[in-house]
Amino acid sequence: MDELPYKTILCDVLIIGAGGAGCRAAIEASKHNLDVIMISKELVGKAHTAMAEGGYNVSLGNVDPEDDVDTHFKDTIVGGNYLNNQELVQILVENASERIFDLEEFGAVFDRTPEGKIAQRTFGKQSWRRTAYASDRTGSEIMVTLTEAIRKTSVRVFDEVFATRLVLNDGKISAVTAVDLKYGDYILFRPKAVVMATGGAGRIYKVTSNAQLDVGDGYGMAYEAGAELIDMEMIQFHPTGMCAPKSAVGRLVTEAVRGEGGILLNNKGERFMNKYYPAVMELAGRDQVARSIMTEVLEGRGSPNGGAYLSIAHIPHQIIEFRLESMIEQFEDAGVDIRNEPMEVSPTAHHFMGGIKIDTNAQSTIPGVFAAGECTGGVHGGNRLGGNALADTQVFGALSGENAAKYAKTNERPGVNRDEVQKEFAHLEAMLTRKEGISPSDARDELTTLMWEKVQIFRNEKDLAYAVKELRRIEKEVVPNIKVDVKEKRFNPGWHQAMEFEHMVKTARMVAEAALMRKGSRGAHYRVDADPNDKGYYNIIIRKGKDGEMELRKDDVVVTKVELP
Ligand code: FUM
Repeated sequence: MDELPYKTILCDVLIIGAGGAGCRAAIEASKHNLDVIMISKELVGKAHTAMAEGGYNVSLGNVDPEDDVDTHFKDTIVGGNYLNNQELVQILVENASERIFDLEEFGAVFDRTPEGKIAQRTFGKQSWRRTAYASDRTGSEIMVTLTEAIRKTSVRVFDEVFATRLVLNDGKISAVTAVDLKYGDYILFRPKAVVMATGGAGRIYKVTSNAQLDVGDGYGMAYEAGAELIDMEMIQFHPTGMCAPKSAVGRLVTEAVRGEGGILLNNKGERFMNKYYPAVMELAGRDQVARSIMTEVLEGRGSPNGGAYLSIAHIPHQIIEFRLESMIEQFEDAGVDIRNEPMEVSPTAHHFMGGIKIDTNAQSTIPGVFAAGECTGGVHGGNRLGGNALADTQVFGALSGENAAKYAKTNERPGVNRDEVQKEFAHLEAMLTRKEGISPSDARDELTTLMWEKVQIFRNEKDLAYAVKELRRIEKEVVPNIKVDVKEKRFNPGWHQAMEFEHMVKTARMVAEAALMRKGSRGAHYRVDADPNDKGYYNIIIRKGKDGEMELRKDDVVVTKVELP
């Protein structure tokens, strides 16, 4: 085949992803007088962070003065079932306050207490009211603010550009291949340092709260380049997603509804959390509430669409209207007035606790590749506390931007292997030129159904082994045969789906393989056939081995302060 033309773009720091973490990293890196580029698969501002509803955890003590950094630390570790990297948790809880003040300085407006301080609400498994918020659209407030703030920097922003592969030279980052989705052009970015801020992969599941773009391309790219990933089996199923109408299935119903006093009922009108977690009821951990709802459903006490009822009819209308305004709108569209009628809810794939393994500089195991936000693993252990994700984006976004800038200042740009680059572009081109093959949307349906049915909330050896077998087959037989019908390269959604698909498969395989390896139950990973001898106090590390095979191993948890039970 003839050489495919591509454009080469040099820069110092390349940020891949433009959600909360990516924007924050870009702002920080730009303070170093460097050429910083941020690329986004979507239009900037539309990243999944904008869909975060309930809030940002920070131990300001504005409402409950007893709260402090140590209690936030402890709650995060206990919530994470002791699998968190404690060094990273310390960074999170210590810096959450500085970073929320940055957001205020950039212009974010959070709800206030009567004294004018940032208000804080109740979220699950937290000792005190710690979650700062902007009604129930906190992520949107943060994204609008960051998008504005980016405009005031020298960061060069590339909308609708999709990174496909990290190219290394002698083990260090040397380039990133990408496609300009608008024009179909190939681009080779030549940064000195990269920040991955690619978000999660809820979209590998049929039912998810995640935006369309959350398919795991960061996990796939990092894995292919040889980075280590940690605890990929730990998927958070948010207990309350919408389960009707069909077009809204999976959409997030914020934990703030329960934080403000919402109660869960089964089809007999019983407040069933009383049976499972009587001390904390609806504010048990997300994994616990999700399992409780599904137990009610499996035992025949579910709502008509396979969930439970969430009621706030006992809460004064004024509070609902002030603190849950998007929930009112969201359910109005479905013909439900939540002030007077219950919402029907069921679990939805929401957050990846696992991801790219980072150190305390937010650097991955590949020199020059930093990472922040949901694409990383280790901070949240086996189960993330609601509200810790937004704080994570800001704390680790800033840290990764700062350290990527320092790295770029002290390292030369390595040369790039042009054959490898051509190989990648030829691979992308083949999806368009192939005459026979499988459509990306059919392939995607097969994958998301498999994950939803076999690698879900309640897991067992047989289903997991089946999923692993199928995913290996899909990887071998389907991925190389993906064919896009429409041959146009300019904005071709079929081609985008095809490019995403191989990352989805790789991500799904990491989830399933790690879930199969972990024989006991811990955090969000619940085995109905749990081996009682496997207490699960370890992390599972995955990497691509020298022979190209997926390698898994168990590592000790990084413990600095709170001993394992
Ligand atoms: O329920 C929510 O509002 C989600 C928050 C989070 O995942 O942090």
